[in-house]
Amino acid sequence: MSVQRAEPIIGRLVVIGLGLIGGSFAKGLRESGACAEVVGFDMDAPSRALAVELGVVDRCAESLQDACRGADVIQLAVPILAMEKLLAQLATLDLGQAVLTDVGSAKGNVVACAAKVFGAMPRRFVPGHPIAGSEQSGVQAAKSTLFRRHKVILTPLADTDPAALGVVDALWRQLGADVEHMEVRHHDEVLAATSHLPHLLAFGLVDSLAKRNENLEIFRYAAGGFRDFTRIAGSDPVMWHDIFLANREAVLHTLDDFRHDLDALRAAVDEGDGHQLLGVFTRARAAREHFSKILARRAYVDVMDSNDLIFVAKPGGKLDGSLRVPGDKSISHRSIMLGSLAEGTTEVEGFLEGEDALATIQAFRDMGVVIEGPQQGKVTVHGVGLRGLQAPPGPLYLGNSGTSMRLLAGLLAAQPFDSVLTGDASLSRRPMNRIAKPLRAMGAVIETAPEGRPPLTIRGGQRLSGMHYAMPMASAQVKSCLLLAGLYAAGETAVTEPAPTRDHTERMLRGFGYPVRIEGATASVEPGHRLSATRIEVPGDISSAAFFLVAASIAEGSDLLLEHVGVNPTRTGVISILKLMGASIELQNLREVGGEPVADIRVRSARLRGIDIPEDLVPLAIDEFPVLFVAASCAEGRTVLRGAEELRVKESDRIQVMADGLQALGVDARPTPDGIVIQGGPIGGGEVWSHGDHRVAMSFSVAALRARSPIRIHDCAAVATSFPNFLALAKQAGMTVGEEDNS
Ligand code: S3P
Repeated sequence: MSVQRAEPIIGRLVVIGLGLIGGSFAKGLRESGACAEVVGFDMDAPSRALAVELGVVDRCAESLQDACRGADVIQLAVPILAMEKLLAQLATLDLGQAVLTDVGSAKGNVVACAAKVFGAMPRRFVPGHPIAGSEQSGVQAAKSTLFRRHKVILTPLADTDPAALGVVDALWRQLGADVEHMEVRHHDEVLAATSHLPHLLAFGLVDSLAKRNENLEIFRYAAGGFRDFTRIAGSDPVMWHDIFLANREAVLHTLDDFRHDLDALRAAVDEGDGHQLLGVFTRARAAREHFSKILARRAYVDVMDSNDLIFVAKPGGKLDGSLRVPGDKSISHRSIMLGSLAEGTTEVEGFLEGEDALATIQAFRDMGVVIEGPQQGKVTVHGVGLRGLQAPPGPLYLGNSGTSMRLLAGLLAAQPFDSVLTGDASLSRRPMNRIAKPLRAMGAVIETAPEGRPPLTIRGGQRLSGMHYAMPMASAQVKSCLLLAGLYAAGETAVTEPAPTRDHTERMLRGFGYPVRIEGATASVEPGHRLSATRIEVPGDISSAAFFLVAASIAEGSDLLLEHVGVNPTRTGVISILKLMGASIELQNLREVGGEPVADIRVRSARLRGIDIPEDLVPLAIDEFPVLFVAASCAEGRTVLRGAEELRVKESDRIQVMADGLQALGVDARPTPDGIVIQGGPIGGGEVWSHGDHRVAMSFSVAALRARSPIRIHDCAAVATSFPNFLALAKQAGMTVGEEDNS
């Protein structure tokens, strides 16, 4: 694989130090054609000869002075402690207008050395640090693609020449690197924590154990743990000695923080404080898993830049057999929230291990709750009681999850500490005034970004008073938010809904022994009671089952059994609507599990017909409309949806995004302000965009069953928020949809 050829960005590039990093920089740029000439210099004569022979450079100079003559850019790629001497030599030369840059892994000391030898930091010196390497070293290991999709951090100073910065930036980008700019100090702190400290600990631990065991007996018994932890103690001692001397201050800072935490762990072991140990270990494990996911995509790649995960769904196929969709998202969120606020240990089974529910777990871990798992759907929540949450160390990041943000806001409005709630790009566009306004009316102090968007800043220590709130829109999130705040508010908090919405919060509060009064459309709570830990079995999510209900309905010859699906009457609008359209859906083995109705659902293919969707079913099927639009596209005649403006403020504007996609596939789908009109007919193939909305991505995967040619669906990464094993289950059931192979 070689680097793409380009128009020259500069005339002469000079690379000083032709080891792995300098050699790879030179070779990549030479191959790319981005420099008219690449000249090398190295103190080691055989390396110079080899560099020319291997095509790493066009030519090598015999002296530093010769090398630098006429240079446009000079890359300093020598070991970090050799830098001062090199800079001192450069300071005696006439460098003309040359731009200087370097690759040292600590930046503060390079800047200090340059300032010392030049009298001041040259304006055309752009400090840099590529985060890349390999176990091999020397010019013979030079690889033109070494930096591709790796981070390169440039640390310009306030008066660095912007033109010089632009040139260095462009050269690294030419090599396929992902360039970021950072302040010198910040760079050194980040690297001290993520790279230098782990190396120090690995070297230190191996030495400490080795010198205390004269016969090295311990190594005879060393198992995987020791091997994994100490792998990096095999790194180059001289290079690391240099790095610690160069980045002294930042390393000391992070080391002191770590010693403090290590002392706390020591104390926990000493005192037999298992709770403290479990807290540290579960939090660390979650952080590590999150990190591994990022690493798995590729080391140091910014996942956000490469997140156009494309699904390709192929036409045809029928669905049969039986399958179990993952746990209900709404119930999973609430199991963590109420489990955390309960007294005692709550065991959860069937928990949805999707990113949204995991964001809720992380938020409660950040507030000091010890939560074990999830492991194969099992979670153990060590409740802290209604008043046991602790101030989080920083903003609570809730990813894509509107439910986490809205429900948490109610809870946090009543805590003694301040909190900040943030989310991803989609969540950051969603309306929060619907909760901020009524919470303020209860006495909460909440700030939002303009137009009531996240982030939310919530001031702690407020005394809330209960109120009777008539919701202007049918929203279970708003209702749940206010009921959670009501657990702490003086007097009664009552919420009346204009139409029935999911009642999992009310049911689960009762399951935890907390009284909830329900009178008609009004649910109310009073303070002064406790939640007692319980067992929760999360049923399958009907919102995930919905994709298969529609898929099996529209794919001829299908007969599918969906096992153990939650069929709470506030959630079954999708079944009612599909039945009105003529679907063949049968609920079998209806039972109640942990306060929630559950059934196995048999669905067989049927000829669907268009209908006017009754407005009272809208809140009961609110998350299922994207896939219902696919059903409507396959139905005979016209389907009309009204009274569903809420769809415009979900993870995407689901009316517009679905209409755009369906139109791209040749379907007559016309959006209206509060709904859509769809004329059933043939579905073509082509490209559609899910706009980061999980349910849109899965809906178009279903549409392909009846398409004439494949559908390519862009931006599908968010499927992991609610249905991480969607592709596997779809395949198991008989659909042909998979990730596009980008390798
Ligand atoms: C949810 C309620 C619904 C739904 C969301 C989950 C919940 O939102 O769309 O996916 O868990 O309470 P609204 O209550 O805002 O309609």
